[in-house]
Amino acid sequence: MLNRQWILTGHARDASFIRSLRLSTQELPDEPAPGTAIVRNLAFQCAPSTRNKMGDGSRTGAASFPLGSAVGGPVGGVVVASCRADLPVGARISYSGRWEEYAVLDTTPANAFHVPADLSLLDAMAPLGPNAMTAYFGLTDVGQAREGDVVVVSGAAGSTGSSAAQIAKALGCTVAGIAGGPEKCSWLSDVLGLDLVIDYKSQDVGSALRSALPGGVDIFYDNVGGPVLNAVIDNMATGGRVVVCGQISGYNGSGVATAGFNMLRIIYRSLRVQGFVLPQYYGRLDEARSFIEELIRRGAFVHREDVRVGFESLPRHYGSLFDGSNRGTLLVASDDEAAELLTRVPAREGPTRREDATGGPIEQPTP
Ligand SMILES: NC(=O)c1ccc[n+]([C@@H]2O[C@H](COP(=O)([O-])OP(=O)(O)OC[C@H]3O[C@@H](n4cnc5c(N)ncnc54)[C@H](OP(=O)(O)O)[C@@H]3O)[C@@H](O)[C@H]2O)c1
Repeated sequence: MLNRQWILTGHARDASFIRSLRLSTQELPDEPAPGTAIVRNLAFQCAPSTRNKMGDGSRTGAASFPLGSAVGGPVGGVVVASCRADLPVGARISYSGRWEEYAVLDTTPANAFHVPADLSLLDAMAPLGPNAMTAYFGLTDVGQAREGDVVVVSGAAGSTGSSAAQIAKALGCTVAGIAGGPEKCSWLSDVLGLDLVIDYKSQDVGSALRSALPGGVDIFYDNVGGPVLNAVIDNMATGGRVVVCGQISGYNGSGVATAGFNMLRIIYRSLRVQGFVLPQYYGRLDEARSFIEELIRRGAFVHREDVRVGFESLPRHYGSLFDGSNRGTLLVASDDEAAELLTRVPAREGPTRREDATGGPIEQPTP
């Protein structure tokens, strides 16, 4: 069988990272070797961290993708051939994989989620996917969110940000969202019901925060970095926590991702600034999933997905993360058939009915 992969040919240094990728085809045996299983990857979640790992590692200090190998990120697939009891044929898994149409696995990946029959793979990758898990641990563990806290989220209309904003609301916090453009900002106020929304493209973030939240910000959940981060730091309350989840405004830069914020605010307001990555919490993913499932059951979690189609167009669609044209969790299905399989709920013998990228609540399958 033929397997197509997106291979890293050179380290990416700027916004032209697509030029560092090449579509390559390799031959795979039709039958799995002893101890292995073959997974057909149906969908690829576009994660900004993939871009960071295309670099040479000097900025992140973490492992990058080796040159000549496939790049990777969150993937959803179905086992099509297997010599492994833990990965039987037909099993659907959401896991940390590579940009390739087929994967040969010799173990169950550490963060694999075996998708139960009453969920679609899309449910598993989006509302119950890694971004929502990240938001949960970022807020509850890193941010130590408590009822009554004033929480500001940047990138609030995105996959991780909209999850963080709604988790904060569910915890009884006052929540402000920062996003780019009128459509995203209307969605945040009209559909998510946030207490305050700031359009960083047309408003001054610092003065909007100062006038609307004079008591200051207890938690800043930052997905963006740059000038937005600096503006929020200046408006933190004493004892505030800055949860450094992402710095997407700097991912395509060539230098070190610096913030340049006012360090004296850190001292005199006793602020804690802490980064984290989801793999630190792989042992607790069930806890986060249960929390989000409960919110979904209560109708308190709205999610929107932006599903594109075509493995060969994956890098082009991926670029939407950086121009802001994605609307929610950005996924690319391998082909039309994969897009259909993605929404299938085996227990219901039909697709999950859900709103499109206009963002209505998810209709949950009846158990
Ligand atoms: N720490 C972790 O383990 C972890 C895990 C998952 C995600 N993350 C981080 O979470 C953040 C969001 O990721 P996501 O997958 O949920 O993507 P997303 O928010 O759904 O999409 C990316 C959004 O970022 C915003 N953006 C892009 N370039 C920007 C810029 N120069 N300035 C300001 N905003 C910009 C755009 O929204 P606007 O239109 O509003 O500008 C864009 O739609 C990323 O920083 C990512 O690295 C971290």
